[in-house]
Amino acid sequence: MTLQQSIDKQLPSTRTTELDSICLKAEVIPVLAIQRIEDAVPLARALFEGGLTVLEITLRTDCALEAIRRIKEALPQASIGVGTVLTPAQYRQAEEVGADFVVTPGTTEALYRYGVTSPVPMLPGVATVSELMTGWQYGYRRFKFFPAEASGGVKALKAFAGPIPEARFCPTGGIGINNAEDYLALKSVMCVGGSWLTPKSLIDAEDWDAIRSLAREAAERFHH
Ligand code: 3PG
Repeated sequence: MTLQQSIDKQLPSTRTTELDSICLKAEVIPVLAIQRIEDAVPLARALFEGGLTVLEITLRTDCALEAIRRIKEALPQASIGVGTVLTPAQYRQAEEVGADFVVTPGTTEALYRYGVTSPVPMLPGVATVSELMTGWQYGYRRFKFFPAEASGGVKALKAFAGPIPEARFCPTGGIGINNAEDYLALKSVMCVGGSWLTPKSLIDAEDWDAIRSLAREAAERFHH
């Protein structure tokens, strides 16, 4: 029996089906850091109307939780991931505001353990085979690969598929319109994430039409 088979035998997979149904709706997941609460709903709406229906809203700004609450209310059909979750306490906050899933940039044992018991599925961030192996032991099968470009990009993902071919990823970090395709061509990639769809200059200018167009371009170009 291979190591992988013995791990599989012992452990349940951690909400793989739920994560798959979210990720399959989205070739591209915009990563948002909302600075001004009044931008939250128009920004999310522009992305949603452009065809990107799964969004990751990071807890990197003071108004992030309130932004998530408002977006969930205004766009109930969108799937909202709460990103940059660093601790179980933040994971709980994400649950409270109605997150559809949680995304972490990296992982700790505490997060892996908490995620197994939470009603909200987690896409844990990994950058190395060792981190992937730790997640795998807890039953995780779907991961964020972060920071993708800085951690070896497409080549690293191809190498991960040797020892752990069943793992699937949402790479983020350094991905844009010009290299997204290279990732999406891999069997192990479900979707990609990135902040290129939400340029600060367009948000500051409240140019929601331009953001809608960026989203539409990505949605059309990378359609499954
Ligand atoms: C993330 O948290 O996923 C990244 O900040 C997104 O990376 P990018 O800004 O390089 O797209």
